[in-house]
Amino acid sequence: MVKILLVGNGAREHMIAEKIVYSTSKPTLFAYMKANNPGIAKLSEQVAIGPYTDLDEIERFATSLGVDFAFIGPEEPLSYGVVDVLERVGIACVGPTKELARLETSKSFTRMLTEKYDIEGSPRFKVFSSDEGILDYLRELGEVVIKADGLAGGKGVKVQGDHFQTLEEGYTYCKQVLSSHPCVVVEEKLIGEEFSLQSFTDGKSLFHCPVVQDHKRAYVGDKGPNTGGMGSYSCSDHLLPFMTQSDLDAAKKITDQMRDALFKETGTLYKGVMYGGFIITKTGVKLIEFNARMGDPEAMNVLSIMETDFVELCQALLSGNLHKVENSFEQRATVCKYAVPLGYPDAPVANEKIFLGEVPTKIKYYYASVDKQEDGVFMTGSRAVAFVGVAESLESAQVLAEDGVCSAQGKIFHREDIGTASLVQRRVDHMNSIRLE
Ligand code: AMP
Ligand code: GLY
Repeated sequence: MVKILLVGNGAREHMIAEKIVYSTSKPTLFAYMKANNPGIAKLSEQVAIGPYTDLDEIERFATSLGVDFAFIGPEEPLSYGVVDVLERVGIACVGPTKELARLETSKSFTRMLTEKYDIEGSPRFKVFSSDEGILDYLRELGEVVIKADGLAGGKGVKVQGDHFQTLEEGYTYCKQVLSSHPCVVVEEKLIGEEFSLQSFTDGKSLFHCPVVQDHKRAYVGDKGPNTGGMGSYSCSDHLLPFMTQSDLDAAKKITDQMRDALFKETGTLYKGVMYGGFIITKTGVKLIEFNARMGDPEAMNVLSIMETDFVELCQALLSGNLHKVENSFEQRATVCKYAVPLGYPDAPVANEKIFLGEVPTKIKYYYASVDKQEDGVFMTGSRAVAFVGVAESLESAQVLAEDGVCSAQGKIFHREDIGTASLVQRRVDHMNSIRLE
């Protein structure tokens, strides 16, 4: 019997836990979490709760259980080098080593690779380790995006026009970043529609999942502050309504070029997930960033319709045989909507209960930032529970996800518009106007 350790405690990991447990090989699941996710706990044989910084404890837990391999869900433990520690004691991991996780943890590393290995789709950019030359470059680019080099939970990126307006404000932000980070990345602001392509890799070949569109803004109509992602959708044809097959092919090519560059640069095969955030612009598909893990909420969209056996996929990835695995996803649409605490993301209510009453049977739900106590499930300040609808059409999947999220109660809110025909049409119109420019 296969024994698997899952590290992580979000909705993405709850979904991954379900895929592991329902694999045809009927493995036994163990979980290491930083907070007690009741969904993961229910599917696991045994759990350990502790911080992701405690790599010794994760190693002790894994070795005492004799697990066959580990799946690392979030970027946080990857950034501390959990994979290096587990591999040292002979436990293979789905997830990159600390060095390779720089794909996500260092924006300058990834941009540097695009330049060094001639990878397509990179915006114009420069990396600065002092403020010398920054002002000139800000002037040269016109509209810019400024990125702190390092993990910042999505908060290290400032977009001109959204988060700051003038060149002087941008310069001040660059100097602020440099006071606490070794460098700052300044890049051209790209205009277009974004999409996520998640690709499993054994370092040699890629297993692509259907593309997904996330919704970063907190409120209906793409208003309000940026969040970890309020919800997402995917379509039955595995494209998005504003996207062509050649846009998808371009994103796959960039991912493949980056996979190759990572090996050339480090001499080590990247084993895990490369999740590219792309944007379709007037001049084609560009790379916004790579993450070294599945997306949250995007994992819920693709894993809900993945027909390939998940454990078989992981085992093939670890043995370097990913090219032998058949890539199979149902031709169905998916919509994921998050219930989040009132006030999220800036001032979320804390320690409030969320009640899941009668969730309609056709709707799946996945716990995220919650903590199960004896007297109920408490929200811990971030996204609380994800609801997923899967159906033949996007509209039906949207109705299911909406029914699901509306069945939850507490001091919560969600975005009613994710996956609706009117919002999708706005995306299509936006893209059409850009392509026609
Ligand atoms: P990141 O943390 O790199 O995912 O950036 C967060 C968000 O900032 C992205 O989802 C984009 O919406 C935006 N962003 C990042 N880089 C750019 C860019 N070069 N041009 C336009 N928007 C960007
Ligand atoms: N969907 C955003 C993220 O996972 O980073």
